[in-house]
Amino acid sequence: MKIENEELKEIIDLWDLKKEVKRKIYKLLDKNPSLSPTFLFRYYVPEGKKNKVSELEKNFSKKFNVKYALAVNSGTSALISALIACGIGPGDEVIIPGYTFFASCSAVLVAKAIPVIAEIDESLTIDPIDIEKKITKYTKCIMPVHMRGLPSNMDKIMEIAKKYNLKLIEDCAQADGGSYKGKRLGTFGDAGCFSFDYFKIINTGEGGMFVTNDEKVYIRAQSWHDTAACWRPDRYARERMPGELFYGENYRMNQISAAIALSQLEKLDRYLNKLRKNKKRLIEYIGEVKEVKYAPVNDQEGDCATSLVFLTEKGEQAKKFIEQLKKEKVPAGGIYDKDIRDWHIYKYWEHIIEKKTPTKEGCPFTCTYYKGKIPDYSEDMCPKTLDILSRTVIVNISEAWDEKDIKEIAEKIKKYIN
Ligand SMILES: Cc1ncc(COP(=O)(O)O)c(C=O)c1O
Repeated sequence: MKIENEELKEIIDLWDLKKEVKRKIYKLLDKNPSLSPTFLFRYYVPEGKKNKVSELEKNFSKKFNVKYALAVNSGTSALISALIACGIGPGDEVIIPGYTFFASCSAVLVAKAIPVIAEIDESLTIDPIDIEKKITKYTKCIMPVHMRGLPSNMDKIMEIAKKYNLKLIEDCAQADGGSYKGKRLGTFGDAGCFSFDYFKIINTGEGGMFVTNDEKVYIRAQSWHDTAACWRPDRYARERMPGELFYGENYRMNQISAAIALSQLEKLDRYLNKLRKNKKRLIEYIGEVKEVKYAPVNDQEGDCATSLVFLTEKGEQAKKFIEQLKKEKVPAGGIYDKDIRDWHIYKYWEHIIEKKTPTKEGCPFTCTYYKGKIPDYSEDMCPKTLDILSRTVIVNISEAWDEKDIKEIAEKIKKYIN
C-alpha cells in the first residue's frame, strides 16, 4: 500500500520541529513521489537514493571517533543490545547507579542479569567508591549513567573496570554529544548507548544509537537488533565467527527518524556550545555562593550544560529555594520530593524492590545459573543517594537565552542564596 506524501506532511506539521528540519524531511519525501513503505525501511533503499540510516551511522561514528555505530529504535534497545553483545546474561551482576531512569535497570533484567544498585556522589553520577564496595565475584559489568549530561568520573571508573576485568557500558541517553577530558562520552568502554527520545538532546520522537570499537561486539549487536538478519547474504556481516549467530529482536531504526537525527547531529556541537556558553555566563553573573554550593562536575568542558546544579545543606532548604525560584519564574526544580514518585530514583522502582517479573517463574531473580546473593532491594538501600538528591536544586539551561535573560535569572538566584 502506498503512503501519500500529503498525509505524511500533515503528521510532520504536527511535530514541533524547526522549519529547517521540516524542510529536510519534505525534501526527502518529495524526492520520492511514488513513496512506498519500502523507502521508509532501513534496507532496500531504491538504487540511487541515499540510505539515511546508514548515513546517520557513518556520520555518528565519524563525529564520535568510534569504529562502529548502529542506529536503533530507542535508548533502551541500545542498552539491551550492548549488554547482549558484551556477553552479559544469566548468572551475571551489573552495577548501575541509584539515580537513573528505570530503563537502565530494566535493560539489565531483559538481558537476564541481576542489577546491583550503587550510590551516586555529589556529581549526581555513580560513586566510584561504592562501585568497588558492590563488586562480587559475579560482577560482570559497570554501567555508569551520565545523568543530565553530566559526565561520570570516567578515570576512576575505567581504573576499576580494568582492575577487576569488568565490561563497561556507558548509558549516555541524557548526554548525546557530551565528553570527558576531550573524549566523547560513550566511547570509553566496550559500548556506549544514546537515546533520541522526546526529552533528549537529539530528538527524533523515538530512537537511539549504539557505538563500539570492537568488531565482535558490533556484529553481536547487529545480530540481536535485527533477529540475526545481519548474517543474511544481502546484509553486512562479512564472515561468520563462532558464537555469533543467535536469535534476536527487532530494534531497527527507520529512514524518517534517521533523516531527523542526521539534521540534528550536524548541529549538535553548535547547540551544546550555546548551552555551555550560557551556563558559564550564568555562573559568572551569580559568582560566589554562600548558603548553597555548586555541585561538583567531573569535567566542566565536557558537560552538556543542560543543567546548573546547586546543593543545599539540608533538604528543607532545597525545597524553599525551589519554591522561591519557581515563584520568580526561573526554570528550576528539584529531583527528590517524597510526594512525587519519580522513576529516575531507585526508591520508586517498586518492580525491582518487589522483584516483579512478567511470568510467575520469576526469571532472572530465580535463575539457577546465578550463584550469588540477590541484593536486598529496599527503598533505603542507598541513603547517600537519597540525601544528595533531596538537597539538589536544578536550574534548566536554555540555548535560546540572551545576555539579558541570563542576567535576570542570575539576579533572581542571587537574591535568594546570598
Ligand atoms: C538515563 C536513561 N537511560 C535510558 C533511557 C531510555 O531511553 P529511551 O526512552 O530512548 O528508551 C532514558 C530515557 O529517558 C534515560 O534517561
